[in-house]
Amino acid sequence: MQQIIRISEGFAPLHEEILARPGITAAKRLGLEYWLFSRDTPLDLAQAEAGLFVRWQMRIDHAWPCVPEKTIDFIEKAVTALVRKFATVPLQQVMVSPLLAGSPHPVYKKMASQLQQRLRQEFCPPRARMDPEEQDPEGLTLFVLLGKEGLFGAVASPRSCRGFYAGGSKYISHKAPHSISRAGAKVAEALHFLRLHGPALPETTHWLELGASPGGMTAELLERGFSVTAVDRAPLDARIASHPRLTFAAENALTYQPPRGMLYDALLCDMNGSAEEALAMVLSKRSSLRPGALVIFTLKTHKAAGVEEILALHHRVLEQARRGGLAWLAQTHLTYNRHEFTLFWSAP
Ligand SMILES: C[S@@+](CC[C@H](N)C(=O)[O-])C[C@H]1O[C@@H](n2cnc3c(N)ncnc32)[C@H](O)[C@@H]1O
Repeated sequence: MQQIIRISEGFAPLHEEILARPGITAAKRLGLEYWLFSRDTPLDLAQAEAGLFVRWQMRIDHAWPCVPEKTIDFIEKAVTALVRKFATVPLQQVMVSPLLAGSPHPVYKKMASQLQQRLRQEFCPPRARMDPEEQDPEGLTLFVLLGKEGLFGAVASPRSCRGFYAGGSKYISHKAPHSISRAGAKVAEALHFLRLHGPALPETTHWLELGASPGGMTAELLERGFSVTAVDRAPLDARIASHPRLTFAAENALTYQPPRGMLYDALLCDMNGSAEEALAMVLSKRSSLRPGALVIFTLKTHKAAGVEEILALHHRVLEQARRGGLAWLAQTHLTYNRHEFTLFWSAP
């Protein structure tokens, strides 16, 4: 059985070690971030600790190793083969992406978009223009990855593959008119990923944000209609400082005391420095979180070098959160994460 996993290019020096930990051998690199390998039994990356680094995973149901660019009538041949194979499967959507994420080769970017359009005509014409986030995270989607190494497809649920798009990434610009820093795109990506695990947060959500300066994430949350109480020793960007839905506390997050009786619906922590100290500050605000409140935490790997140290830090942080009463939701590595991860919990 063939499987594909995606590990971000930022971890390139660690790729071999990440693959070796769950016993993946003889993996073939596809593009810059994908790895194709065979195993007798499916690899459960949710159980494998090195799964932390895996951004996308899919068991291959249909592979066509070829050079699509040089294959005559590639799109129609691919459509015919996929329709023959999956004609009886009740698909909710078809999602096709180029194997080279980020800046795909223009030929494959165009081919992926043409193939997606053709496959949607065949499988689900009424939903051809559906927002990818409207997919049922547990429904069946045909995911296809396409590149100079060929075509790789699978029918699977977005949640089991870890994304609504083939390959897992939604393109989010960090240059939106309201954006202040790249961190804004990071929280937008995190909220997109969270849709795999539940409905979107209502506009009435009031966030407590620790380590908010200069305000990239704050600006994104305000733009979405949320209210934010932002805490940082450093000031916020002047463009948002007097926003009517913003309360700013120029303080150390360790000593910051939320107003008496205040209960936040969600907490966001993107503080730099030690991850364990940052999480201790998050836990110190527990009594100001509504039951079930969402906690989004950037796990900065700080001084941890190498897979072993990163996994040990991750393990300690999960244990600290568990002892602190947080309930585990999910984790991911986002495009804007670079050498850090985004973890999600809910408050007791
Ligand atoms: C990576 S930056 C945050 C960027 C921010 N999330 C954004 O969207 O622009 C980390 C921030 O954590 C703040 N920070 C670190 N330790 C802190 C503490 N103990 N109390 C308050 N702020 C802290 C720093 O001042 C810095 O502004």
